[in-house]
Amino acid sequence: MKNSQLYILCFGTTLTSIKNEYLKCKTLSDFEELAKKSMMPHRFYYYDYKAGQGHTYQACRHYFDKQLRIMPRVLIDVSEISLKTTIFGLIYESPILIATSACHCLAQVDGEVATARAATETQCIFTYNWTFSNMPEEYVLQTLADKKGYRAIVITCDQPHERIRDFVLPLFEEASKNIDPELMKNMSIPNLNIPGIIVKQHFGTGSVTWANIEWIRKLTQLSIICKGILSPIHAELAIKYGANGIIVSNHDGRLIDTAPPAIECLEDVVNAVDGRAEVFVDTGIRSRTDVLKTLALGARAVLIGRPILYGLACGGQDSVRRVLDILKRELVYDMACCGLTSIDQINKDILYKH
Ligand SMILES: Cc1cc2nc3c(=O)[nH]c(=O)nc-3n(C[C@H](O)[C@H](O)[C@H](O)COP(=O)(O)O)c2cc1C
Repeated sequence: MKNSQLYILCFGTTLTSIKNEYLKCKTLSDFEELAKKSMMPHRFYYYDYKAGQGHTYQACRHYFDKQLRIMPRVLIDVSEISLKTTIFGLIYESPILIATSACHCLAQVDGEVATARAATETQCIFTYNWTFSNMPEEYVLQTLADKKGYRAIVITCDQPHERIRDFVLPLFEEASKNIDPELMKNMSIPNLNIPGIIVKQHFGTGSVTWANIEWIRKLTQLSIICKGILSPIHAELAIKYGANGIIVSNHDGRLIDTAPPAIECLEDVVNAVDGRAEVFVDTGIRSRTDVLKTLALGARAVLIGRPILYGLACGGQDSVRRVLDILKRELVYDMACCGLTSIDQINKDILYKH
């Protein structure tokens, strides 16, 4: 009896220490390391997955770290700095958004709900992924009708085949065992069967084309954002078929290895779009300087994927909030070093010899 009490006490202590460990995280890599330690290896592996040898991801980091340098500017009054920015005509707290990613409940039992709450607390846009998520189905159905505060529809354009489906489903089902059975009834796996929604007709079949973008354009007044565009030609097509926004992304190197880094493609896409749509970027953004560099190259805002999931794994909603707060606080610091007081002042002039 004594032994089992001792065991329970030790177990409790361990859990508490892991639970608060995220408070020591100072950078986004700290969250990744902690997530690696605290998550079940196969779940971490799913988040961390990179296609092939991971060249795309490495090239992306190389480009951020070695190709783009920031030239500081001195002796400018930066006593008041604002991160506020405008996206599709509305003002938001910062240009940092949460990327769409599947299976938040592999990180933490509250899954997307916890992430959405952290996004609300930090007034950050959350790109909610309607497949493999634990958000109630009714929210998804209301999306196209512009209810519940949805502002835009992001369409993943770069994943023609559900390559990882067989691999994800068992993981998802395993994670979902921990979820409240009531919530479970509304899980989004059934969303794959919602009548009339593109997901049912085309998901994973490889048959989604520009015609589907045109079709959705006719269905909704919401802004449409095409995600996974790397070439100026595809950016042009996206606009032609009705997109209001483009996310320059290579899916964090999860799809095709040796695709060029999104950050390297950004400027060409921005030039091709020439103000006709809003251009966003994701993939490999891990620090404040990364955010600054993408904005300098013309992105309207950035989307963060894995660091959010790692944050969720480390300490749930509070820890996701901490990830976002760290990025925002540090961005303010970097802007000060560059003599910038507002997001609209950020441009190529801060990039050394660009
Ligand atoms: C675990 C995981 C699941 C993802 N699922 C999707 C998805 O279902 N649809 C999609 O368009 N992108 C998905 N993404 C890609 C992200 O939206 C985003 O492009 C990428 O994570 C950004 O790079 P970062 O993780 O380096 O910030 C996923 C990414 C991860 C890490």
